[in-house]
Amino acid sequence: MNTKKTIVVVGATGAQGGGLVRAILNDPDHEFNVRAITRDITTDKAKELVKLGAEVVKADVDDLESLKKAFQGAYGAFCVTFFWNHFSPEKEQANAKAMADAAKYAGTKHVIWSTLDDTRKLIPLTDDRMPTLMGKYKVPHFDAKGEANHYFTDLGLPVTLLNTVFYWDNFIYFGLGPKKGPDGKLAITMPMGDKKLPGIAAADIGKSALGIFKAGNKYIGKTVGIAGEHLTGKQMADGFARVLGKEVVYNSIPPEVYRSFGFPGAEDMGNMFQFKRDFEKEYCKSRDVELTRSLNPSLLTFDKWLDQNKKLIPLE
Ligand SMILES: NC(=O)c1ccc[n+]([C@@H]2O[C@H](COP(=O)([O-])OP(=O)(O)OC[C@H]3O[C@@H](n4cnc5c(N)ncnc54)[C@H](OP(=O)(O)O)[C@@H]3O)[C@@H](O)[C@H]2O)c1
Repeated sequence: MNTKKTIVVVGATGAQGGGLVRAILNDPDHEFNVRAITRDITTDKAKELVKLGAEVVKADVDDLESLKKAFQGAYGAFCVTFFWNHFSPEKEQANAKAMADAAKYAGTKHVIWSTLDDTRKLIPLTDDRMPTLMGKYKVPHFDAKGEANHYFTDLGLPVTLLNTVFYWDNFIYFGLGPKKGPDGKLAITMPMGDKKLPGIAAADIGKSALGIFKAGNKYIGKTVGIAGEHLTGKQMADGFARVLGKEVVYNSIPPEVYRSFGFPGAEDMGNMFQFKRDFEKEYCKSRDVELTRSLNPSLLTFDKWLDQNKKLIPLE
C-alpha cells in the first residue's frame, strides 16, 4: 500500500507548479506523492506528467468546488495564481481566496502560497515617485498577491508564504532577452540603474518549495523569500556575453520610459522594476540566497542557468 503523503500542486503544467511536480517525482527520498492540477487532462503537458508518475486531476482556480475535490485527502498544497493570463488583481485575489477556502475545507496540513510583496507598504499610494495603477495599486501583480496573504492567515491555515522572485526564464519566454539596439549591439534593457535584481531559475522555485514541505513544521507560519542570486544588469549582460560569445551591454533606462513601452503590463513592470531599484536593500534582504540553497542544494547560479539554457535564448 502506498502510504506516502500527497502534495496537490496548482499550475502543475506551468513554470512554478511544474518545477514542484518534477522535484517531487525526482526526489531521491521519494517522500511524497504528487497530484497535479490542470484544467485539461487531455493536453500533451498533462499526459507527460502522467507518464512521469504524477496523478493528474482536473480543477480550475475559478471553480471552488473543483478545488475542494482536488485538495481532498492531500497533506500539502502548493497554491499559485496566474496574473499574466488575465491582468486582473481582483481575479488573483478571488483565486487566492478560493484556494485558501479549499485548503480549509480539505483540512490541508501544509499550504505554500506563492506570493509577492504588497509594495504599498513601502510606497503608499500617496507617494508620487511612481504612478498609481488601476486606481489602488503601485505594482498590481505584486500588491494583489501580497494583499491576498490574509485569505490564508485569517483562516488559521498552516501556511508558508513563499515570496518568489524574477525568473531568469523571462529572458527566454517573456521577451526580456538581449535585443539589437540602433547601434547594432545586443542589449538587455531594464530600469534598474546600478542596483541588484534578485533572480532565480524558475524550476528552482518548485525545488525550494519541496525543501519547505520536507522541512515539516519548520516553515509553517513563516514567510520565506527565495533567490538564486542578486545581480546587477551589468553582471547579467556580462553573463550573456560569455555564453553568446558576443558583446552584450546593459541598457539602463528611466522607469518612466519602460512604463511607456506600450506592451500589455508595461506600466506594471515599470513600477515593479522601480520598486526593486528604489528599495534594493529591503527587497534583496527579503530574498536570502543561502536560505534558498539550504532548501534546495542544487540551486543554480545565473552562470549555471545560462550554461544550461543558452541555446534557448531567442536572438533576432
Ligand atoms: N515571471 C516571473 O518572473 C514571475 C516571478 C514571480 C512570480 N510570478 C508569478 O507567477 C505566476 C504564474 O506562475 P507560473 O509562471 O508558474 O505560470 P505559467 O507557467 O504561466 O503556468 C500557467 C499554468 O497555469 C495553469 N492555469 C492557468 N489558469 C488556470 C486556472 N484558471 N485554473 C487552474 N490552472 C490554471 C495552466 O495549466 P493548464 O493550462 O494545464 O490548466 C498552467 O499550468 C504569476 O501570477 C506571476 O505573477 C512570475
